[in-house]
Amino acid sequence: PLGLGHAVWCARDIVGNEPFAVVLPDELVLNTPGCLKQMIEMASSLGEKSNLVAVEAVPDHLTHQYGICGVGKRSGKMFEVDGMVEKPAKGTAPSNLSITGRYILQPEIFKILQTQERGAGGEIQLTDAMIGLATSQKFYGVEFEGERHDCGSKPGFLRANIAYGLKRPELRDGLIAEMKKYLGQ
Ligand code: G1P
Repeated sequence: PLGLGHAVWCARDIVGNEPFAVVLPDELVLNTPGCLKQMIEMASSLGEKSNLVAVEAVPDHLTHQYGICGVGKRSGKMFEVDGMVEKPAKGTAPSNLSITGRYILQPEIFKILQTQERGAGGEIQLTDAMIGLATSQKFYGVEFEGERHDCGSKPGFLRANIAYGLKRPELRDGLIAEMKKYLGQ
């Protein structure tokens, strides 16, 4: 209840002393292989104690709704993260690459979360703890393949239902027929 950073910290005893993934369930990525699978494959090409965050470009007027990454050295679909900021004020974002709800993190994040102060929105932010960890460990951004659905907004939730429904052979035709009725076609 105190924020995403607090929620992750609550899982410290279950995770123990090994790298782990964070999956925010209000974000879906429609793709095979899935977003996390793509990240795990990329992680295997990196050194130990690397952290990864999935990112996606968003329009400039939406950057204040997300965690945003600065972009350092690039290598294909991956780049070294050069600074992060949680929900930057309009016009101050270092890029338009928003953190999507998939992370691979090292267990040292828990020590930082233990004393993490409240940040944007008065919440204990995972992004702020990642900024702390980035002083001693590498962070990489991954521009994943797939369609992101942010179900944290009502239109996003509705769009996800339609997108996933259209991918299901047993639902597709019926769904299209219903939508046509509403669209008056
Ligand atoms: C959280 C994270 C943010 C990230 C977003 C993705 O924010 O704090 O960095 O970009 O998820 O959905 P929330 O949506 O909980 O405000």
